[in-house]
Amino acid sequence: MAFLKTLLLGTLGLAPEVLAANLLASHYTGKIFSLSFTGSGKNATLVNKSSVSGCGTLPAWLHVDSGVVYCVDEDWNGSGILASYSVGSDGSLKQTGRAVTAGASVHGTPYGGEDGKGFIATVEYDPSTLTRYKLPLSNASTVLAQSKFNMSEPGPNSRQNAPHPHAAQLDPTGKFLIVPDLGADLIRVFSIDAKTGDLTACEPGVAGAGDGPRHGAWWAPESGSTAGQRLYTVNELGNSVSAWTVSYPDGGCLSLEKTQTLSTYAEGSAAPNGSKAAEVHVSGNFLYAANRADETFGPQNDSLVTYSIDPSSGDIKFVEATPAHAWFPRTFSINKAGDLVAVGGQTSSNVAIIARDPKTGKLGDLVANLPIATPGTPQQEDGLSVVVWVE
Ligand SMILES: *[C@@H]1O[C@H](CO)[C@@H](O)[C@H](O)[C@H]1NC(C)=O
Ligand SMILES: *[C@@H]1O[C@H](CO)[C@@H](O)[C@H](O)[C@H]1NC(C)=O
Ligand SMILES: *[C@@H]1O[C@H](CO)[C@@H](O)[C@H](O)[C@H]1NC(C)=O
Ligand SMILES: *[C@@H]1O[C@H](CO)[C@@H](O)[C@H](O)[C@H]1NC(C)=O
Ligand SMILES: *[C@@H]1O[C@H](CO)[C@@H](O)[C@H](O)[C@H]1NC(C)=O
Ligand SMILES: *[C@@H]1O[C@H](CO)[C@@H](O)[C@H](O)[C@H]1NC(C)=O
Ligand SMILES: *[C@@H]1O[C@H](CO)[C@@H](O)[C@H](O)[C@H]1NC(C)=O
Repeated sequence: MAFLKTLLLGTLGLAPEVLAANLLASHYTGKIFSLSFTGSGKNATLVNKSSVSGCGTLPAWLHVDSGVVYCVDEDWNGSGILASYSVGSDGSLKQTGRAVTAGASVHGTPYGGEDGKGFIATVEYDPSTLTRYKLPLSNASTVLAQSKFNMSEPGPNSRQNAPHPHAAQLDPTGKFLIVPDLGADLIRVFSIDAKTGDLTACEPGVAGAGDGPRHGAWWAPESGSTAGQRLYTVNELGNSVSAWTVSYPDGGCLSLEKTQTLSTYAEGSAAPNGSKAAEVHVSGNFLYAANRADETFGPQNDSLVTYSIDPSSGDIKFVEATPAHAWFPRTFSINKAGDLVAVGGQTSSNVAIIARDPKTGKLGDLVANLPIATPGTPQQEDGLSVVVWVE
């Protein structure tokens, strides 16, 4: 399409259109910034075009889904906001819905209904809850249902005093929800009733003791097929990633079995004190994870790690660590073309755009960098919370 446009404009003797890519970055001071990335190589620019509020005091997660953005609020003083926005062609946001919640949410995803947007599930870290609301959101929205997780005894890490669900993510079929639980060392699994929004607990995947799973990313040898499908999770407490086989027994629950756990550090390097793995994504046959506060590449310069995925088995292998160009990269996002990675430095409060070779999976040079609002304080819940491409 872009090629065709360039060709047509070219034959008309006009300058080729420079296509802008839009990103969103949320900040723990309450705003969501619309950013625009244009150009390439040395001419690339990243600018902040506009911002909105309306997601409470601590916007902690953005879910972007075909022109709609959902935002959850981590406010831990007892009241928060769950918000939805529409995205304009210039990347600007317009609030479309807003519900009052009990706050403390760290992640969420729409699910069910006829179009995958019938309901939204959020997770609350400290309260140990999974909460559901009906979509669309309005001032009159109330909690549809809530489950509070239990565990019989504390885990080996001092942060594992209680269940701490850290994400609610759909599987590729849209029929199951997974909830990595950092406190309970479980990947909780739920089957979705698309009509009612009901979630029924299945057997969870069991992580290693003290792993503290946080988020997951899916991969399959052939997109659109569940044959050979894998889940990779990032373990915040263990500073590692785990690979899981995923099976779909006839009419039954999605089932997970852990096959590998690899460090987010090269062999011979240990996770520095205070470092916490944060995020995991797949692009092509490569897996990437982010390390927070390891300062592997110098002061305020943490690392991203690359693993190759064996295309026949789905097994992973550590490749290398590269600079995140950010301090405390809580999130990162790979564009659809697979040639750019946006890294959100929480403490440094910047968005760094890094080149990626879609063929080799190699992360390359920094192509653009933008400081956003005010920097955070080390290990505190402030600074930039999320960056994501809007495509
Ligand atoms: C960058 O911009 C300059 C000046 O507009 C232009 O001469 C040059 O060809 C551009 N380089 C690239 C790689 O686009
Ligand atoms: C929670 O309340 C405390 C005390 O009033 C205040 O200092 C803090 O900023 C509040 N936090 C949020 C996220 O609103
Ligand atoms: C919903 O609440 C917001 C914020 O309090 C308010 O501005 C808006 O007018 C309300 N909308 C409706 C339809 O009541
Ligand atoms: C957790 O325990 C409480 C009290 O025993 C129980 O009511 C609740 O159903 C349990 N939650 C889950 C998700 O099993
Ligand atoms: C690790 O860091 C924490 C706080 O940042 C500190 O309390 C603790 O003593 C450190 N442990 C070691 C082994 O250095
Ligand atoms: C991070 O490290 C890389 C590689 O040494 C360097 O090019 C880059 O300037 C550093 N960035 C920061 C913010 O320190
Ligand atoms: C973003 O851009 C707006 C408009 O140009 C400007 O007012 C604001 O200060 C910028 N904010 C940041 C965080 O750079």
